Amino acid sequence: MTVPINVEVDSALLISAQALADLLGRWPASDGALYRLLAARIGRLADTGELPAGVRLPPERALAAALSVSRNTVALAYQVLRDEGMAASRQGSGTRLVPHRTTPGAVHRANGFFTGLLSVAPAFDLSVAAVDCAPQVAAALQDPASLLSERERVRLTAGTGYLPYGLPGLRSAVASMLTAFHGIPTAPEQVLITSGAQQALDLLLRCEVAPGQAVVTEEPTYPGIIDAIHRAGARPVGVPPGDMGRLASVVGVHRPALAYLIPTHQNPTGFVLPAAERHEIVALAGRHQDVTFVDDMTLAELPIGDGTAFDGAGHGAFASGPPPLAALAPRLPNVVTAGSFSKTYWGGLRLGWVRAPEGIIARLAAAKAAADLGSVPFMQGLVAALVGSAHEEIAAYRAAWARRRYAAMATALAAFLPDWTWTPPAGGLTVWARRPGDADSGGFAQAALRRGVAVVPGRLLSVSGERSAWVRLAFTLAPEDLATAVKTLASA
Ligand SMILES: Cc1ncc(COP(=O)(O)O)c(C=O)c1O
Repeated sequence: MTVPINVEVDSALLISAQALADLLGRWPASDGALYRLLAARIGRLADTGELPAGVRLPPERALAAALSVSRNTVALAYQVLRDEGMAASRQGSGTRLVPHRTTPGAVHRANGFFTGLLSVAPAFDLSVAAVDCAPQVAAALQDPASLLSERERVRLTAGTGYLPYGLPGLRSAVASMLTAFHGIPTAPEQVLITSGAQQALDLLLRCEVAPGQAVVTEEPTYPGIIDAIHRAGARPVGVPPGDMGRLASVVGVHRPALAYLIPTHQNPTGFVLPAAERHEIVALAGRHQDVTFVDDMTLAELPIGDGTAFDGAGHGAFASGPPPLAALAPRLPNVVTAGSFSKTYWGGLRLGWVRAPEGIIARLAAAKAAADLGSVPFMQGLVAALVGSAHEEIAAYRAAWARRRYAAMATALAAFLPDWTWTPPAGGLTVWARRPGDADSGGFAQAALRRGVAVVPGRLLSVSGERSAWVRLAFTLAPEDLATAVKTLASA
């Protein structure tokens, strides 16, 4: 069993009441019966591995004293844990956490993105920033022979099909694409093919972060990273997007293992970090080479304004946008880039990538082998051919697709929710909007759901889980459905 490094659990798997009280943090901050909040928080610590299975919880009286609550509150919380199959008590040996598959804690923490995918879709889903299949990609999937010669198809079906690093042809295609279109000189050996950018992020957290270590994210951020951080047992620390002073101070004070940033078309704000700040980040990375700086480019090829577009000049064809971090420091060993074909081509391909020094790529490939032994080679072969022959065309198609949808959402918001405030995103697939008043948007999201519209309340994009009046709205439905959905929101 792995014992997390940040918990004072001794060799007999005992945790003191004080150590548990410290770990519980601000557990009574939300509404609800104290014993339920306590049980939920202990359950969450068990989920994240901060409290390992087998650990003996402190005696009820001691924990009650450490928390300044009644003994009955602790007794009821332990009873909830037993009822939910997370703990067992035996006469004389106290209450222990038992190995468990899943818990209400995991369900509570599940963010809007994953909850949306794991449950039945509502009539109008504005919670998931996912696109339909680009026609060029659909044509290739329906008729692979239109893209791949018979020899290529035979080659793709030869061998074992287990390729943890990825298909060599797709590693080369991604390396060329990064070099030509984004100005990041990249060799195929610096590329790992993953099952979407989500797996890229998950592998980076597994390999580069030890349980208990800090991970910096923007606040708000892409909700998928928050779950992955918690599941890695790491400690998220939030910094407002673009706040370089805070970023530098958090890196200095918390000594994080990893800093996760979305400089281009930030999820959820759509913000583009200016070039000067990117230079500052690279300088910070140079001073703190024990911190892995991740530039998530998943949404980078989706400009909404006219500012960024392929210029076809071949010197980093997104020439008018600011350069990715790795373009500024291609050899800095702690600057890593992640990305995906999900938002331009189609999420159903489940293909993403990491660009990093070869040492990191080797560690990630070992973890990928343990996770799934590699992504599907035939799909990788198709996508490699598309990247080589039609990448600009597909990216341009998708950017126009997103612009049309954004225009529909912006018009609907102005018409039906004129008192909401939002800054037009420079790119990406989401609008980050603030409802009037200070109420947390969770209640609003529930009311909207009952009317058939799913949105993500801002709290779920926050690593601190603080109440938030903000809402994330993805504009990935058909334009006419976006108008109906926003109109429905106005009635919620
Ligand atoms: C910023 C960001 N990173 C990563 C992902 C995960 O994408 P995928 O795993 O589909 O490639 C998303 C999906 O919404 C995203 O917005």
